Amino acid sequence: MKNHISYIVILLYLCVGCTPEKAQISIPVAARSLIPYPNEVIPADQGFLIDANTTIYAGTNLESQAIAQQFSSRFTKASGITLVSVNESKLATNSIHFVLDSAAKEITNDEGYLLKITPDRMIVRAKAMPGLYMGLQTLFQLLPDEIEPDAMHTDIVWGVPGVTINDAPQYAYRGAMLDVARHFFSVKDVKRYIDLIASYKINKLHLHLTDDQGWRIEIKSWPKLTEIGGTSAVGGDQGGFYTQAEYRDIVAYAKLHHITIIPEIDMPGHTNAALASYPALNCDGIARPLYTGMKVGFSTLCVDKELTYKFLDDVIRELASLTDGDYIHLGGDESHVTSKQDYNVFLTKAQAIVKKYGKNVMGWEDIQSAGISDETIIQHWTNADIATLGAKQGASVVLSPAPKTYLDMKYSKDTKIGLTWAGVTPIDNAYAWNPASLLKDVPASQIIGIESPLWTETVVDMEAIEYLAFPRLIGHAELGWTQEKNRSWESYLKRLKSHQNRLKIRKVNYYQSPLLE
Ligand code: ACM
Repeated sequence: MKNHISYIVILLYLCVGCTPEKAQISIPVAARSLIPYPNEVIPADQGFLIDANTTIYAGTNLESQAIAQQFSSRFTKASGITLVSVNESKLATNSIHFVLDSAAKEITNDEGYLLKITPDRMIVRAKAMPGLYMGLQTLFQLLPDEIEPDAMHTDIVWGVPGVTINDAPQYAYRGAMLDVARHFFSVKDVKRYIDLIASYKINKLHLHLTDDQGWRIEIKSWPKLTEIGGTSAVGGDQGGFYTQAEYRDIVAYAKLHHITIIPEIDMPGHTNAALASYPALNCDGIARPLYTGMKVGFSTLCVDKELTYKFLDDVIRELASLTDGDYIHLGGDESHVTSKQDYNVFLTKAQAIVKKYGKNVMGWEDIQSAGISDETIIQHWTNADIATLGAKQGASVVLSPAPKTYLDMKYSKDTKIGLTWAGVTPIDNAYAWNPASLLKDVPASQIIGIESPLWTETVVDMEAIEYLAFPRLIGHAELGWTQEKNRSWESYLKRLKSHQNRLKIRKVNYYQSPLLE
């Protein structure tokens, strides 16, 4: 026993003042698949090795500490190694730094970041939290694939390529849309979608909360919307809805991932679920039957009734109180049984109500006919001329051209789920277009981003969501983030091919396109 103790003392003595030897590591940055591809990537010879002696430093800012914590906990889960958190940056070699520096001049954008990896340190620097979060996503992509949740791998060398990355997004709005009205998806499913899209720096999740087939958000002042209108879904499948507490939970979860939820109440058409719940909302005072088919364009709120605007006011007031972002989406598409004049009267009033509750209006391009302000975002989906008329009124434009971005379009004629009304959209077709030149008469400065809608008439579960969204949504994320000069189908395809392994590790039910072989 005595001998044993002195042996330990000698070892400690030998190590006083020494830094544990680190193996050198050299991994080409091209060996990692960065998607979306950053603005500037400058490779260096020697990379960084994370080992049991690596420390992590995030300064005194609680928010950057939270980012460091996200890194540590994912790393520990994947590796079994616990990283020691330190509070003194300058001393530590073999350390990982998350630095929030609001004065950083070289970073021009709140979502921008600088990432520098040398043998001694890995530093992620940003001027605002969104940037630090985006840098964290890139850092995860620079680690071995096994950093992807959810298994532990104790046999991995946790090497990171030497590199300097200076990055910022091309567009501020990088969105996905999930239709939870045609089929309902649980809070758990929505959170899984958030987890997945956040990895690709998508920062908006538009939830299509109401449609003919279902009303999915609790409105306390109009409880039958969910008691009745929440019970149906396409094909007679099970309905459902989010309580306000559940919805707040989704909003908070999204916020942790630097994603803003944009809620849509589609109106004055696409409202059968509301018209089935409250007879008085119909012009004839007769409730409509619940609808489980797939037709569009047959329903409308009653534009002449005062009650319609009381209803709208209550719905928007409650929804605004649940919304942390600036925008509420009013839909406005395919109101085929509302007269043009009624449509414009209705949307003028609806827009005023959104403003009254402190939010700005987003809507499908169709809403431009009512007159829109330059604070409005219109979402282009089918008619370039109509979207251009909206842009001429000063509105910002989000691009969701159906043949390119509608994730419910089939990959090929043989795809089992999905629709084909806008064509079939293989993965190269989804990627190979340029947002800046899609609408030729709209100045590039008014295009604020792109969004990939997933309509769910034929989509019944999370597996189907993943099948249609992945990998096309990953390509859209690159279109939204990466500058045109850094994009090419060949480069993207190469990266996506090796990125598949991460999708497999995360058990994403993605479409294994023949193009990926
Ligand atoms: C839409 O696809 N009706 C916006």
